[in-house]
Amino acid sequence: MQNESRISGFHKLSLSERRRTLADRTGLPADEIDLSLHAGGLDPATADKMVENAVGCYALPFGIALNVRVNGVDRLAPMVVEEPSVIAAASNAARIVRAEGGFYAEPLGNLMIAQVQLHDVGDPIQAAARICERSGSLLAACRGAVPNLVARGGGPQSLEVRDLGGGYMVVHVNIDCLDAMGANLVNGVAEAIGPHIAAIAEGTLGLRILSNLCDGRRIRVRCRARAEDLATRRPDSDEGYGGEEVIDRIVRASEFAERDPYRAATHNKGVMNGIDSVVLATGNDFRAVEAGAHAYACRSGVYRPLSIWRRDGSCLVGEIELPLALGIVGGTLRLQPAARLALKLARITSSPDLAALAASVGLASNLAALRALATEGIQRGHMSLHARSVATAAGARGDEVELIAQRLSTGRAINLEAAASLLGELRLSQAEPRAADAE
Ligand code: MEV
Repeated sequence: MQNESRISGFHKLSLSERRRTLADRTGLPADEIDLSLHAGGLDPATADKMVENAVGCYALPFGIALNVRVNGVDRLAPMVVEEPSVIAAASNAARIVRAEGGFYAEPLGNLMIAQVQLHDVGDPIQAAARICERSGSLLAACRGAVPNLVARGGGPQSLEVRDLGGGYMVVHVNIDCLDAMGANLVNGVAEAIGPHIAAIAEGTLGLRILSNLCDGRRIRVRCRARAEDLATRRPDSDEGYGGEEVIDRIVRASEFAERDPYRAATHNKGVMNGIDSVVLATGNDFRAVEAGAHAYACRSGVYRPLSIWRRDGSCLVGEIELPLALGIVGGTLRLQPAARLALKLARITSSPDLAALAASVGLASNLAALRALATEGIQRGHMSLHARSVATAAGARGDEVELIAQRLSTGRAINLEAAASLLGELRLSQAEPRAADAE
């Protein structure tokens, strides 16, 4: 089994050849890959058990970002996303930073937060003191609510009390959910302990639920890119941008996002293109991830970018930090074989490893977007991918797709009509010499 995440010419293969290549690379049986991805991995009967009023399944493309290396380990990065160019862009940026070792990830804690809300607390200072005094027995009761998690080495670790003013208080129970995302575990603890806490505080019990701002379960990822690898100018051409200039332009793009929440939102959208795609591929809850990421981006009171970019000598350095609660057991993974396949392809065996991969792909997506935006803009790249999908929709197959896409891109309109007419001309021109040969 090879560990390489670099697969040259992967994009030129047919879909079934790509699956065979993955089987060769990972050692996974080819039929497991085929079956896991069949019809998007989910059949209507299973969907009917997952949600109410199901009437079918809704599929999205499942692709692989290449070149990704995290903490010295090569990983094939599974991505589920409908937007063209996201996977290619992430692969390209991952190749650029690979020359400097790839991505370096550091998990910052693994604690989820259970919130117990109290209101109408007469004396919050005294209530907080009583809760802190009894924290040992309260934590023991919390652990009793999740015995299996505790037996596996995780479980409730500490309590915090916050006075929200106006008789409102909230108690946080910090819980290590190990390799689970942990929503059910955390909610179970909150519901079990809520009445005890309300009695001690002499207040009224309110909500008992996890917080998606899980800032005790953050991941930080750094990467470096060399000027020469960032250049868009070819050695034999005057067109494009030199590497030093690309670094300056990306740093200015980062500073723009740091100063302007309107830009920060779009900057972070580019980050989430990568993160959400990995989160979806691995069967995780992307709404929870989005809620946590944007709340964290706003933690100073001003909405800020999740990643920043700076110059270091002749290199560009990037860093991202955000809360990421991702599970590799339970939840959707029990029912969705494509999500289980995603974890196997990436050889993920722990929740922090998955968070590290998702954040790395997020940083790669962000770098790719900034490099394009800060130089030639993103439309040219988008348009050539759009041309390929229009060519395919018009019936082009195999080598025809690239030929028609090229002709569409240099023509006046990229639409089905133009593609169909170009395809007709192409097929006719290829048929003519054969007809001449036959005469
Ligand atoms: C498009 O999906 C994402 C970008 O808008 C991100 C960005 O502006 O940084 C290109």
